[in-house]
Amino acid sequence: MKTIAKLSFVAAAAFCSAAAFAATDYTLGSPDGRIAFKIGTDAAGRPTYSVDFKGDVVIAPSALGLVADEFSIEKNLTMQVLEADTVDVTWQPVWGEYADVRNNYNEVLVAFSDPEGRQVNVRARAFDDGVGFRYEMPEQKKINYTTLRNELTQFAMPADMTVYAIPGDYDSDEYLYTIAPMSQVWDKMDGLRTGDNNRIKVPSAQTPILLKHPGKPVYMLVHEAALVNYPAMAVEIDADAKVLTSHLTPDKNGVRAYLQAPYITPWRTIIITDNGPDMLASQLIYNLNEPSKIKDTSWIKPRKFMGVWWEMFTGGKTWAYSDKYNAKPGITDYAALKPNHRHPANTANVKRYIDFASANGIPALLVEGWNEGWEDWAAYRKNRQFIFDKPYPDFALDSLVEYARSKGVQLVMHHETAGNAADYERQLDDAFRFMNKHGYDAVKTGYVGHIIPRSEHHSSQWMVDHYNHVAEKAAEHKIMIDSHEAVRPTGMMRTYPNWVAQESARGGEYESFGGNPPEHTTMLPFTRLKGGPMDYTPGLFEPDLSSYGQGNKSRGLTTLARQLALYMTMPSPLQMLCDLPENYERFPDAFQFLKDVPVEWRDARYLEAEPGDYITVARLDKNSDDWYIGAITDENPRDVVIDLSFLPKGTDYVATIYRDGDDAHYLTNPQSYKIETVKKVNSRSKIKRHLAPGGGLAIRLQKK
Ligand code: NOJ
Ligand code: CA
Repeated sequence: MKTIAKLSFVAAAAFCSAAAFAATDYTLGSPDGRIAFKIGTDAAGRPTYSVDFKGDVVIAPSALGLVADEFSIEKNLTMQVLEADTVDVTWQPVWGEYADVRNNYNEVLVAFSDPEGRQVNVRARAFDDGVGFRYEMPEQKKINYTTLRNELTQFAMPADMTVYAIPGDYDSDEYLYTIAPMSQVWDKMDGLRTGDNNRIKVPSAQTPILLKHPGKPVYMLVHEAALVNYPAMAVEIDADAKVLTSHLTPDKNGVRAYLQAPYITPWRTIIITDNGPDMLASQLIYNLNEPSKIKDTSWIKPRKFMGVWWEMFTGGKTWAYSDKYNAKPGITDYAALKPNHRHPANTANVKRYIDFASANGIPALLVEGWNEGWEDWAAYRKNRQFIFDKPYPDFALDSLVEYARSKGVQLVMHHETAGNAADYERQLDDAFRFMNKHGYDAVKTGYVGHIIPRSEHHSSQWMVDHYNHVAEKAAEHKIMIDSHEAVRPTGMMRTYPNWVAQESARGGEYESFGGNPPEHTTMLPFTRLKGGPMDYTPGLFEPDLSSYGQGNKSRGLTTLARQLALYMTMPSPLQMLCDLPENYERFPDAFQFLKDVPVEWRDARYLEAEPGDYITVARLDKNSDDWYIGAITDENPRDVVIDLSFLPKGTDYVATIYRDGDDAHYLTNPQSYKIETVKKVNSRSKIKRHLAPGGGLAIRLQKK
């Protein structure tokens, strides 16, 4: 149903102040009328948009446009409305936070034309929780190839917003967040913005970037959706003008994208809410992605998993089978090498993990370091670093797969590419066939190091195509993907629901390299997680790495109870239990929570949330009537009052409460916790508990 007349009420309700606009302007209202997206041209014929929220300008008039070697769509343009539409549908994700997701928006498609007859269209959608817009290049005589040099999209802020961001970087998202006014944020990033030469040198930040108004309840998250055939976007920060400008990752020729008309760009997204919980609940980015391309999704099975990898992070152990530093996969006879006996991916040790997982109902186990190639880490200097179908001599793959199966445990494959995406593509078919043949249905991929092809960055167009290609190929083989060091997610997991998790941020592994300050996990759900779930690897029960006596002096910056809460605040269909079996055995009563907590959800209630400070969320299990509540705080202690009025009326539950001990503290006493049972709670109850500095709270509510 496409009708322009239908939308006239929206135009009438619009806030019309921005003098920059001419008579051809169009105003697109959100279904609830609180958001107005205005698009038009300014006095110089430059395409421009702005956004109002509850009557206030939240994005001031901002530039749009594309600059290529072949053309520049920038100024002297006229605008014409081509079509308008209203959509209100509900879809069912294969996995996610909600069983049903409502996708309700008003849409407009406009054309900008220059005097020579070149044309670019902009499609915009206004939702109740924000806006999305993208460029659409129609087929036309005067534009065929596009060697894209620049996208001009800007986001002009209405005030010196508080910014929550990580520095712009073409190759890594593994940073802590800096929280500061826009005018100071670049200076405050300080040490973060120097160093590696792939960080963007001008003041910039990665998206998703969160912005909060200093004087009004306005939260905005600038990001993108459906990143396909295009580089990822960072933003340059002009603090004086209070403007963010899109900065696309170039290849090493300085080109951002190679395109041929007709084409579309990813959506530029701005989630807009007046409180923290609504920002966390927003499904806008998924709604702007295409529906699943996979018809039969019955083989996609969310699950918890353990791994042998934490032994490598605690110190002393390695992914490599031998110490032969110049071994070459495909050439070296690994069977003839002397084993170093510091290799956790060996048959006996893997069996030990299988036994533990099986005894505790943990359905899967990831084995890193199982294949040839880990002896050196020189991928950038050679064209073959790893082989994905050659187990090390001490890893009896077939018998381990069989043993695991007999114990009800699924082994998870690991493909570290060391950034050599080109060679991974050469091996991909063989690697996936090998997985099919040996009964593996999920793989953790990795891209540590500089990218090959050597012209590319982790977030450049070629690599974006690579990750999407891997997800698509994997789907053909009925394989689930958990990608590490890949480009930050943009909701593509709706289209490829076999892409069940990504890292693409500073994850739990950093607890062994200096620690993640507690604030970090109060930021990730507001930023990185809006694009898709994260394989953060929670579940750390022994945060003192020096206790292993292996020279690692790092300390995880968390209480034990907080680690349980992360299973609700950082939901992921593939969820790691990161710690060693012997550490879980030391705390069997707390481990019970990790055995019980599901990974598939039917509903969520964000009860309170403030970026950088705290989050409390309740989730309903997809496969039972049990609710699970998680609460975390930053380095400050906090008293939470959990109002259970969201529970169905007249139903009683037993509450099992896992809380910080009275003397718990993330720095000095992290393993102090207490477990309490309340025999009857219901929709009239409130649960009040204290969170320690860096602490957390996890609650299971079982229907009586
Ligand atoms: C970095 C990943 O984040 C980590 O989980 C993995 O163990 C190493 N790469 C090796 O692949
Ligand atoms: Ca804080």
